[in-house]
Amino acid sequence: MSRLIIVSNRVQKPGPDGAQGGLAVALSAALREHKGIWFGWSGETASKFTGHIGLDEYDGVRTATVDLEEQDVDEYYNGYANRTLWPLFHYRMDLAEYVRSFGSGYERVNKRFAETLQPLIESDDAVWVHDYHLIPLAWDLRRQGVKNRMGFFLHTPWPPTRLLVALPHHQRLVQSLFAYDVLGFQTEEWLESFRHYCEKEMGGTIDGDDITVGSRTIKAFACPIGIDYDEFLDAVNSENAKAALTKMRASLQDRAMIVGVDRLDYSKGLEERFQGFEKYLTDHPEMHTHVVLVQVAPPSRGEVKSYQEIRASLEAESGRINGRFAHVDWTPIRYVNKGYPRDQLGGIYRAAKVGLVTPLRDGMNLVAKEYVAAQDPQDPGVLILSRFAGAAQQLTEALLINPYSDEEMADAIHQALTMPLDERKRRWKIMMDEIGETDVVWWRETYVNKLMQAQDVESAEDKLLELSDEE
Ligand code: UDP
Ligand code: G6P
Repeated sequence: MSRLIIVSNRVQKPGPDGAQGGLAVALSAALREHKGIWFGWSGETASKFTGHIGLDEYDGVRTATVDLEEQDVDEYYNGYANRTLWPLFHYRMDLAEYVRSFGSGYERVNKRFAETLQPLIESDDAVWVHDYHLIPLAWDLRRQGVKNRMGFFLHTPWPPTRLLVALPHHQRLVQSLFAYDVLGFQTEEWLESFRHYCEKEMGGTIDGDDITVGSRTIKAFACPIGIDYDEFLDAVNSENAKAALTKMRASLQDRAMIVGVDRLDYSKGLEERFQGFEKYLTDHPEMHTHVVLVQVAPPSRGEVKSYQEIRASLEAESGRINGRFAHVDWTPIRYVNKGYPRDQLGGIYRAAKVGLVTPLRDGMNLVAKEYVAAQDPQDPGVLILSRFAGAAQQLTEALLINPYSDEEMADAIHQALTMPLDERKRRWKIMMDEIGETDVVWWRETYVNKLMQAQDVESAEDKLLELSDEE
């Protein structure tokens, strides 16, 4: 069997503490099966980039990580990845910053990763690269003569062409994706946007999964990521989850709980969510003191200004709304800037009658799937979900809303809190079946099968050179 080399900016090292996310669990299983390596940034900085690889192994999963220079972290991670691509890919042209040093830092770090990774790649290996930090990686590897099968999976949305062309050197970035053999997107919608760009901006042609530009043909398909269903249900049924549920219920004192769980990111629509809840409280004075919104929002990417700003706005907004409605014995919004482990999250989700998942734009959104999976089948809560999350393509039995409309959100909260048990069970069952069928193991197997079938890698380098000559 071919080995699998997984590459992502962040490498979640598996360890005895079991504190891993669903993606880490799923990829670790793939690595065990294929005897592969997980390569990426250690999360540490060094005064000078040396290319020294830190190797680690736990329970059959090998990781290989490198330290980056501070300038690399500023320009590549905080800069191009999180101040340019992330906002643009989430339709936030107003927040995207175009700074030349970010672009050059991004290319430099991708080259450094490629140079460091190349000696680890054996002839029959398949390489699977993840996310927007590493778009040009395969291009750099091909330039170094790597002929292996290589695939890329984008965890974020792919933006519409009209937004993407605002990015300086967008052609160069998209062209570099043609060094991969297989591209995976979360939904048909993001895939469509990618195809549109290839047709309109590169003169490409589409035939089924195939996209041809010049003489280079690659495959691009939609393959929605799922949660680790079995692992998550175990977490939900664990003693820690039960203890978290009991504690949560005791603190609620019979009040109805609405829950939100998100990294503190402007793409998650938290300000709009608070305002939607405010509208609900304004429209339903009879519910004052009877309902609580618990928002878990661990800080994220704190060195980036737009993240500092959203944090300050949310503190102000939650304070304002609580000030407007609170009683001495009731605070409507419990806003918590702390992260919780998955088993405790299981209990917190289950305590809530409503899951409020309202990103303004999201590649998928796993919290939506986790909320559904954590529910009591005999008395499930209701999911309110943004139409603009990738998950809305699959979870069509959620109450789908426009997260920018406080009226739609307020009405959906009312509908959810008054929904009869039969309807809650019916909607929950349909969503739960979908989540079980397309879990993270299905996602990984579907993608890896496609990648393993990829052919015609021998001539990829020549065809890419042709492509870059055409530019
Ligand atoms: N998460 C967590 N603890 C927290 C908040 C979030 O473990 O306190 C996990 C959550 O369970 C989910 C992931 O972080 O698995 C977030 O994934 P999602 O796709 O919803 O959003 P992303 O952060 O990737 O944009
Ligand atoms: C999103 C991205 C991932 C990223 C994660 C956490 O899910 O798609 O690539 O790892 O957010 O963000 P961070 O910047 O902390 O790695």
